[in-house]
Amino acid sequence: MEIKRYLVTSALPYANGPLHIGHLTGAYLPADIYVRFLRLTGKEVVWVCGSDEHGAAITVKARKENTTPGAIIDKYHEQLKMALAGMAIDFNIYHRTSEPIHHETSQDFFRTLYEKGEFQEIESQQYYDESAGQFLADRYIMGTCPKCGNPNAYGDQCEKCGSTLSPTELINPRSTLSGTIPVMKPTTHWYLPLNQHQEWLKTWIETGMLEGVKHHEPETWKPHVLGQCKSWLDSGLEPRSMTRDLDWGVDVPKEIPGSEGKKLYVWLDAPIGYISATKAWAATHHETWEKYWKDPETALIHFIGKDNIVFHCLIFPVILKSYGGYNLPINVPANQFMNLEGDKVSTSRNWAVWIHEYLEEWPGQQDLLRYYLIKTMPEQRDSEFTWKGFQEANNNELVNNLANFFNRVCVLLHKYYQGEIPAFNPDKAFVGTEEPDFDSFHETELLYLHDRIQDLNQSIREFRFRDALKSLMDMSSTGNSILQSNEPWKKEQSDPELIKVVINYCAQLATALSVVIRPFMPFTSDKMRAQLGLSPLRDEDELNQLLDALSQGEVLLPPGHKINEASHLFSRIEDARIQAQLDKLKRGAALSAPAPAVHVPLKETISIDDFNKTDLRAGTILTADRVPKADKLLHLTVDLGFEKRTILSGIAQHFQPEVLPGRRVVIVANLAPRKMKGIESNGMILLSENGDGSLRFVEPSDGAENGSVVK
Ligand code: 2FM
Ligand code: ZN
Repeated sequence: MEIKRYLVTSALPYANGPLHIGHLTGAYLPADIYVRFLRLTGKEVVWVCGSDEHGAAITVKARKENTTPGAIIDKYHEQLKMALAGMAIDFNIYHRTSEPIHHETSQDFFRTLYEKGEFQEIESQQYYDESAGQFLADRYIMGTCPKCGNPNAYGDQCEKCGSTLSPTELINPRSTLSGTIPVMKPTTHWYLPLNQHQEWLKTWIETGMLEGVKHHEPETWKPHVLGQCKSWLDSGLEPRSMTRDLDWGVDVPKEIPGSEGKKLYVWLDAPIGYISATKAWAATHHETWEKYWKDPETALIHFIGKDNIVFHCLIFPVILKSYGGYNLPINVPANQFMNLEGDKVSTSRNWAVWIHEYLEEWPGQQDLLRYYLIKTMPEQRDSEFTWKGFQEANNNELVNNLANFFNRVCVLLHKYYQGEIPAFNPDKAFVGTEEPDFDSFHETELLYLHDRIQDLNQSIREFRFRDALKSLMDMSSTGNSILQSNEPWKKEQSDPELIKVVINYCAQLATALSVVIRPFMPFTSDKMRAQLGLSPLRDEDELNQLLDALSQGEVLLPPGHKINEASHLFSRIEDARIQAQLDKLKRGAALSAPAPAVHVPLKETISIDDFNKTDLRAGTILTADRVPKADKLLHLTVDLGFEKRTILSGIAQHFQPEVLPGRRVVIVANLAPRKMKGIESNGMILLSENGDGSLRFVEPSDGAENGSVVK
């Protein structure tokens, strides 16, 4: 299928916090390079993005800041938009999912899928917070991860081990709204039966075939993206709920029976945000949005971070195909994560480089950050941002290589030729790119540039932006070597013809660089062109014109062309500035760190004989019931092997009785009996108490028999 135009999307960032380097290098900078490149080659392309303004991410933040979700999204939408624009992330539109057109579009999807019978209505028992009067999905519930034991796993995901979870899998669940133990209550939701789509998804992902037609080339997909999709498919897809019991989000359409109090799942409405953004853009640009979503000659490409792969490669395609008539993505070039100074970037721990702060502290230096983030982009694996690396990239590469070459060309043009491109003898030999012998300025040297640019372009087409940037810097190094080998500063007097051809060639190279650099460093491209006496690029096929000229051996700057004053593109960064950034990072993290847990003082020393009086035994809880009229007590029966014990334990506000049978415990077995609420308790369960007041059972190791002595 011939590609006529492109619809590019970047993940909609949650409007619940500012933008950091991880976001930028993950989904925005790579798309910006790609789209700027497409525009420079005259392609028809629309690139959409916007704020993701629904879901628990927003409401949890509003609670934390003691304000409304509406105030949160307004505040952060503006911040995100400004930070992205500040970094010259040049979307066609930056929309938001709170717009009416988005609510209408998402509801149309829900209604259509509902009417086509694409959903299953399922009643299930879900956790409910009685004090908050709310069901607890996703981030509203926390507990211990059943896979890795992390005590702070969310209902939808454990951030420590990366497992996808459902709230019922959590051990010791607690509500993030009130901290209380939730109860189970029935609720009905609409599920997308992903299992019924498993077969075509697998064929589509693995072979690129969709309904018997070749749709994409899986070899062009990143291995880690294919790997994640395959692992989901191999473990078998399951129905996934597309609605939530929440009061913030897109309403389930009113006419659907049972819609009251139900909102669309944020991961249903967010990707539809790409469509509503396209609609909003088209409405103001005399365009039809359908052309970008439904014409098979439009290529759809999603730029995202790795945590969004399943939603863009499996779930959203199912939604689009179930609706009917929409294109599916031809590629999803997801990036992995960028770490910072040896640790994960984290908003809550304030371990980040915030873009709005960077823009304030490094004014006019957007391209420096863009350069370093592209150089270290986590394209295939996680990568690392260090301030030292940032400094070295600037000093060793941008200053010593690129800015140095460009400045030398401009200064030499002024010094020897009054700022005019000299006329030259194209047959004059110089040490050029094809060492050791010079062939022809037009046939060899300009063609060399042509071929290097073609290689660079191919890297961009294959989403290898690090390689592309490297090719660009190699072209600049070549320029420096040519100057170094021909030594204009020594030979201008003795061999003026040689230096004319050398400087002329370097001026052509500098001009080519001013074009190919644009997708990576747009500000620098403008600066270079201004110094070269050229107008800024207009994104109209200039790259192809450049390639055509070079392939035909035509110069880019004709003799007699006048350039402007030379000035430096980049300047050195001293150690003190870098140290200041490191200090600030550490200070910020320390300020946001939670206060250390209160240290409970030790009790007075006892003798071994005192301790030996306590008879500790391993056991297993057999039954657990609430005690009428006692909020705190649970009535437990514990199997000690040789007998069954009744124990009353004050843990009702920490554990649901339903989840306790089968739990292993250690008990004090020789405690004097005590009667509470008319029941005699014969022993005590051992628990440890954390700084936040949460309790954990002291558990015997595997293999410890019931009744065995603990000592
Ligand atoms: O992970 C996130 O930050 C989501 N807000 C991304 C949404 S992408 C798209 F589907 F809208
Ligand atoms: Zn885990």
